[in-house]
Amino acid sequence: MAIPRKKFVAGNWKMNMTSSEVSPYLEVFRLETEGINNVDIAIIPPFTALAKASEILGGTQKIRLGAQNMSPEVKGAYTGEISATMLRDLFIRYVLVGHSERRRLFGETDELVHRKVVTALASELRPILCVGETLEERQAGQEKAILEAQLSGALTGLTTDQLEEIVIAYEPVWAIGTGLTATPAQAQEAHHFIRDYLATDSGLEIAAKTRILYGGSVTADNARELLFQPDIDGALVGGASLDPRSFAEIVAAAVPTE
Ligand code: 13P
Repeated sequence: MAIPRKKFVAGNWKMNMTSSEVSPYLEVFRLETEGINNVDIAIIPPFTALAKASEILGGTQKIRLGAQNMSPEVKGAYTGEISATMLRDLFIRYVLVGHSERRRLFGETDELVHRKVVTALASELRPILCVGETLEERQAGQEKAILEAQLSGALTGLTTDQLEEIVIAYEPVWAIGTGLTATPAQAQEAHHFIRDYLATDSGLEIAAKTRILYGGSVTADNARELLFQPDIDGALVGGASLDPRSFAEIVAAAVPTE
């Protein structure tokens, strides 16, 4: 079951950065990551900066683009929404689905998250499915039950081919933007649980192939220790991805040593 999983580091800019800040950012980031070829990299700017980023990157394989959200609907009278087709039109490859900020602040349910996953896959966008427990849930010893409910809610009914397209991000809510990183042991335990869930629910092959990223106060200082836990296949970085140099350092920390 030792299928090597290429590390994947993605930067979620959240509601930061304007379109005019994209070009100077990418200029530095591209330079800083020039020699790195064995890590998958994505940046996930806000919608208004995607077109600019897409124009600059021009569909390069090296730095992929992701969107932070997407409508579960295909098209039509949904004022203010962005469809999967609109994202594909800008050569977007990934889309975050079920980020805890969307669940918590915008009331996204597991059922909505599932619909978004299905819509993304139908348009050949690869969902980065975010899961994770709150501090209260962890203190009550419920973290595994929460992860299981979020995973089963989002992934129910998907075929093996669909499951192969999915990336999972474990982001404990208490570690997001707080400077309180999960310890490598805590993160590994949760990632192992997620992989076990996939093995039971979807089979060993899917479990062995699926990349599971860790997110929550990842910095250049703590990245390496987290990234080389056996079940951690990359990082979903918020705050530290806003500076191109510190994000490039995190990407560099994901380079395999041998
Ligand atoms: P921080 O890295 O700022 O904690 O954010 C993590 C996150 O939510 C990435 O999606």
